[in-house]
Formats: sequence, C-alpha cells, structure tokens
Amino acid sequence: MSSDNERLFERFGREFPAGTVVFREGDVGNEMYVIQAGKVNITKKSRDVETVLVTLGLGAFFGEMAIINQKPRSASAVVLEDARLLVIGPKTFEAMIRGNSEIAVRMIKILAQRLQEADEQIENLLIKDHNSRVVHYLTHMASRGKAVAGGILVQVTQEDLAVKVGLKVHEVKEVLDKLLRARLIRVDEGGGGGALIIHEVNRLREFLEFLEMKEKFGDI
Ligand code: CMP
Repeated sequence: MSSDNERLFERFGREFPAGTVVFREGDVGNEMYVIQAGKVNITKKSRDVETVLVTLGLGAFFGEMAIINQKPRSASAVVLEDARLLVIGPKTFEAMIRGNSEIAVRMIKILAQRLQEADEQIENLLIKDHNSRVVHYLTHMASRGKAVAGGILVQVTQEDLAVKVGLKVHEVKEVLDKLLRARLIRVDEGGGGGALIIHEVNRLREFLEFLEMKEKFGDI
C-alpha cells in the first residue's frame, strides 16, 4: 500500500471478508465505499432471481447514489473476494466533492459512463430476435476488446452474456453455437471458457445486418 493509501485506510478503512453483504437493495444508507483491494458484486433482484449487474474492483466506488439521491439503496453490494474498503460518510463525501474538483469530475465521468452503458443495454433489450441481440452485444464488446492473434479477444462468460442480453444461458449457447459453426467466433481456450475471440468484427457486423434484414423481410 502507498503511504497515502495507508493514511486513508487508517482513517476510513475496513476489511470485509468474501461473502459479506455490505448492504441490501432497499436498505436506508448514507455511506459510500471505495475499493482499495478485493472485488464487490453489485446485484439486483428481479422476480426472485438475483442478478449481478457488475463486478467492481480496485479504485471503483459504489453506494454514492443513496447519498446523492437520498433514496434507499438501488442494488445490493456483496463482497466477492476479501476486500478492503474506504467507508465514507455523507459529510466527508460532500467535503470531498466540494474540496476536490478532480474527484468530482472523475465521479461525473463514471456516472455518465454508467448511464451510457444502461442506454446501450436498453437498446439491446429492445431487439426482439435472440440471434441479433447476442450479435449486437458482441459487436459492441468488440469495440472495447483486445487485439490478439486471430482476432479480438472479448472477456465474457456465457452466464454474463445471458444477464446482459436478458436471455437464458441455454438460449445464449444456441446462438454462440451458430456463430461458432459459421466460424465468426471461437472460444478462447486459454481463458477457461471465459472469453471469446471474434475473428473479424466486420464480418460479425455484416452478419448482424443480415439478421436485421431477415427480421425485416422474413425468409425469402
Ligand atoms: P446505491 O443506490 O447507494 O447502492 C447500490 C449501488 O450500486 C449504487 O448506489 C451504485 O453505486 C451501484 N450501482 C447501481 N447500479 C450500477 C451499475 N449499473 N453499475 C455500477 N454500479 C451500480
């Protein structure tokens, strides 16, 4: 830990073992958290199914919305890997934002990014056809993927993909199988099944256009 981090941790830090529920959706709370080590899942329950919205790691923050909006927690936070968190109360939060424009700007950027991702997810969920929904999401992920030999590496498990596109895992698998057979993608063996390689993003885009045409005009 750097000495700055040590000082912050002495003042605001707490250790949270894996499995700790930091707070639950609907709780009243006015503290925010900054991750100094470990990982935290942000989860939301819908029709009795708990879904991971995002996994946050080093440097990320959460729990700021309840302070800003003065509303109950919009989601739950559960520690995935033993974590060291800075726990920041509302007064310190306000002092931090007012006193340090760099922190305020960083926070605005992250909130804007979250909104953009939510908008992109809404756009995706409005696509009716399952094939198009998965392909649309993969083309979007490819723009943030890493160039590797043989294509673009996209870090995503079938489970994550299913959550993001609002389908069941077996439905996602069916679509991925079609893409594998068409040699548009392959599973990254080194990634333990948690990553895909998209051979040519442009071909995947063309395939998406083809699917959109098919939906518009039907099979002719
Ligand atoms: P709050 O509503 O206080 O409690 C739940 C927290 O989860 C929320 O603040 C945000 O910090 C965080 N959160 C909610 N939705 C997302 C999301 N889509 N991506 C990242 N973090 C989120």
